[in-house]
Amino acid sequence: MENKKKKIFISTPIYYPNDKLHIGHAYTTVLADYLSRYKKLDNYNVYFVTGSDEHGQKIEDRAKEENISPKKFVDNIIENFKLLWNLLDVNYSNFIRTTNPIHEEKVRNIFNELLNKDLIYKGQYSGWYCKSDESFFTEHQLKDGKCPECGREVKLINEDTHFLKVSEFSNWIKDVLLNTKLLTPDHRNKELVNNFLNDLKDLSVTRNTFTWGIKVNENSNDIIYVWLDALINYISTFLIENKSDDIIWNEEDVWGENSNVEIIQFVGKEITRFHAIYWPILLKMLNYRMPKVFAHGWIITKDGDKMSKSKGNVIDPINLINEYGSDSLRFFLTLNIKTGEDGYFSNEDFINSINGILVNKYSNLISRTLKMLETQYNSVVPKISKINNEDISNKTNDVINFGNETLKHYKTLNDNLMFSEAIKEVIKYIEKLNLYVDLTQPWKLNSSNDELSLIINTLITGFWNVSVLLSPLLPKAKIEVENIYNEKIIDFIESYNKSFENRKIIISKHLFERIK
Ligand code: MSP
Repeated sequence: MENKKKKIFISTPIYYPNDKLHIGHAYTTVLADYLSRYKKLDNYNVYFVTGSDEHGQKIEDRAKEENISPKKFVDNIIENFKLLWNLLDVNYSNFIRTTNPIHEEKVRNIFNELLNKDLIYKGQYSGWYCKSDESFFTEHQLKDGKCPECGREVKLINEDTHFLKVSEFSNWIKDVLLNTKLLTPDHRNKELVNNFLNDLKDLSVTRNTFTWGIKVNENSNDIIYVWLDALINYISTFLIENKSDDIIWNEEDVWGENSNVEIIQFVGKEITRFHAIYWPILLKMLNYRMPKVFAHGWIITKDGDKMSKSKGNVIDPINLINEYGSDSLRFFLTLNIKTGEDGYFSNEDFINSINGILVNKYSNLISRTLKMLETQYNSVVPKISKINNEDISNKTNDVINFGNETLKHYKTLNDNLMFSEAIKEVIKYIEKLNLYVDLTQPWKLNSSNDELSLIINTLITGFWNVSVLLSPLLPKAKIEVENIYNEKIIDFIESYNKSFENRKIIISKHLFERIK
């Protein structure tokens, strides 16, 4: 049977395996996984790729320090990447490694295709290089003689190189940025245009003073620039893993001009230049279509510093998960960092948010509801009968309407990549349900009151709805809720507003425990 679902391709940057990942990296990947799970609920087939960017001088030097081969060095670190994604329930379709020979061959092929089209030509590069960002800078771009992006030392390099003719596409990309929806949030467009497009120079795309990378061809000393190598992962991934959500994916279906696949690529704001200038130009050179790139903000400390290894201020997500659980971390990161802007992380805020929302509002709602169900109905959801109590009837309709409106707002916000705002709508719905309990005072009623059966049903379905909406964010709680209700969360159409009359529903422990 033909699969008629809509399709979406979602990616994260592929991270450098020069060190363990911190919560900044976890943030990007959680957003991508959240969107992926949300889209599945909204009836999409999803292909979601993440991975590791394993070549380049930085990795070569790190391996030298450890006295092992670069491949061995990255192999060890990759284990930590995969462990983290596993702990965080990140459900990717492919974990791509740029040292995969299939990827390497694809990069070489694309390089040679561009060489044949005269879009790559030979030349001499002279300028400054930041090894940490693997980026070239001109003299006047430097800040106090240091890297304008990370503040580290830069090195003057003079090398034979190949250039990619990006300068020819300068006006084209300016137009794309200013007049299409390639990059969100919108304010990043002007930033890019002002900072980089007044004088876009051809990009140096080979280096020859180190060896850890993809050679232009077997007999060459020219190593393909690690950023060109890395960006191509978004294309080569389909050669390595072409199955996701039980359907077959390929390069042409996703990137071809006639593609009807949605494409959302998550990046941190510091690498938008690569994803919203060089990457679209590369795609254009290959006669491919444009993606949507979403640039999120940074996790910063209370002093306003970006969390990064060099500043020594990183927080290890694995420690947080071990202590507080992965759902809690996913929840905090997505809710508390307003999508697109910088946001703080502090242990105190983290704990307050779990106790204040997940425990007090969400988890308590089901505990108190199921307590009443147990004492009044022996844990079996009663049938609803018509009631004559206008007040309770109105309050019930009000809460049901609220649930329907919440679904609409939540979907619009998620479709616009406003995840934090979408989750806030769900929290309002939880608050509304709690308020409904306070207003209707079901503890004063008993099983002989028809009002109670209506209230209980409304709460049981309400909590289920909330859990459906939170399921892309809280994959572990999702499974627990499915077990409690003995029902699977399928998609919005089948699962939202489900009735549970006559079903036995029991809870044995709290969904979320208070953190001391
Ligand atoms: N390897 C390149 C990406 C190549 S993609 C074709 C790279 N890797 S990285 O390991 O440095 O990861 C960068 C990404 O990590 C950023 O885009 C961002 O998504 C994430 N973050 C790193 N520090 C961060 C914060 N402090 N806050 C939020 N995200 C941050 O660049």
